[in-house]
Parts: sequence; C-alpha cells; structure tokens
Amino acid sequence: MAIRIKNITADDFDEIIFLCDSAFGKNYIVKDYLEQFVFAENGFGFVAFYKNELAGFVLNNVFSNNYIPENKLLIKISFLISTQEFGVLKTMAIKEQYQQKGIGNALIDYSLKTFGEKTKRIVSIIWDHPGNYLTKLLEKKHFKYIETIPDFWKEESTNRKFECKLCGSPPCLCTAQIWLK
Ligand SMILES: CC(C)(COP(=O)(O)OP(=O)(O)OC[C@H]1O[C@@H](n2cnc3c(N)ncnc32)[C@H](O)[C@@H]1OP(=O)(O)O)[C@@H](O)C(=O)NCCC(=O)NCCS
Repeated sequence: MAIRIKNITADDFDEIIFLCDSAFGKNYIVKDYLEQFVFAENGFGFVAFYKNELAGFVLNNVFSNNYIPENKLLIKISFLISTQEFGVLKTMAIKEQYQQKGIGNALIDYSLKTFGEKTKRIVSIIWDHPGNYLTKLLEKKHFKYIETIPDFWKEESTNRKFECKLCGSPPCLCTAQIWLK
C-alpha cells in the first residue's frame, strides 16, 4: 500500500493533536504550537497518509542567524555542534496501528530532502525511553548520537503546561538524546 506525504495544513491539526495526546501526553502539541511549524517561515511539517487515513506526521524547523533558537536548550545545542545554522527534526509520531510499515522512514526521507535545500546540519531531539525506535531509524540515516540532556522538557512543560505521558503533571523530567547528521 502506497504512503502519500503532503505538507501539513490547518485541516490536519485536530488529528495531529489527537495523535500527540496519546503518543506524548496531553497538551504537548496544541494548535498555536502547530501553527509555528505550518505558517512560520522557518518551520515545516508533513503528514503521511496510508490507506487514505492520516497515519503520522513530522514537524521540523531550521535555525539560522535570522531565527534565534526558541529556548536556551537549543542555544546549548548550537554550541554543542559549533554552528548557529541547523535544522531540527523535531517531533514525529505514527499511529500505533500503522507503525513498522515504513511510514516513519518515509517522513524522515522527505524531511531530509527538504532540509537539504535549507541547511546541511540536522539535529534530532529524541525522547529517551525504552522502546523509542526513532534511534534505529536515525542510525539508518547516518545520524550519530552526541549527547544526553536530562530534564530537557522541564521548563517547557511547566511553561506550556503539558502532561508528559510518562511523568504526568508538569514538570516533565524526561531525558533527551541529541543526534546529529
Ligand atoms: C518512532 C516511530 C516514529 C517510528 O515510526 P515507524 O513508522 O514505526 O517506523 P518504520 O516503520 O519506518 O521503521 C523503521 C525502522 O525502525 C525500527 N523499528 C520501528 N518500530 C520498531 C519496533 N516496534 N520494533 C523494532 N524495531 C522497530 C526498525 O529498525 C525499522 O526498520 P526495519 O523495518 O527495516 O527493521 C514510531 O514508533 C512512533 O510513532 N512512536 C511513538 C511516538 C514516538 O516515540 N516518537 C518519537 C519521539 S522522539
């Protein structure tokens, strides 16, 4: 069955939010946040359709001298990789029933192609928990692990009041792995 990929539009927001609530926890993604990726000049996102159903999505942004990283962790990452211009493969989820069908792989390929027109260095921020298979996918795409940052979402979860699926009420004390290509 073919996987079809297209740019995210406002019509996809409700389904993406529903998927995120179950994959990451309530309020991790809200409409205002999605708009930053869909309507901002430095953001872009894709949805994948499988059997004509929205099966998953990815959100990406590009940071450059024109776009200051949104928080101090991204500034830290820019020091880690010695450049102020980099792309972030930021958030990806596939509906459980459609996982392991190559949809995540296809969304990464599509993102990498688009990043290629915008920036050369790409960072991925991975939620560090057992069974996060994104690391396997990144290895296949020749990303390299560079660092682990504890409490990565602590401040953001408190400010944005999102309820991590693992930690519950804020703060989220999950760790992030930083991978680089
Ligand atoms: C991580 C995620 C996006 C992967 O998407 P996917 O569409 O299932 O991935 P693919 O089908 O393209 O799988 C590609 C590779 O990942 C690995 N993989 C994916 N799911 C796996 C599983 N359940 N068991 C073992 N390996 C798995 C395999 O190496 C696979 O390659 P292979 O099929 O050639 O062996 C998906 O599991 C997901 O949405 N998880 C929940 C949300 C999440 O944790 N997102 C990441 C936040 S940082």
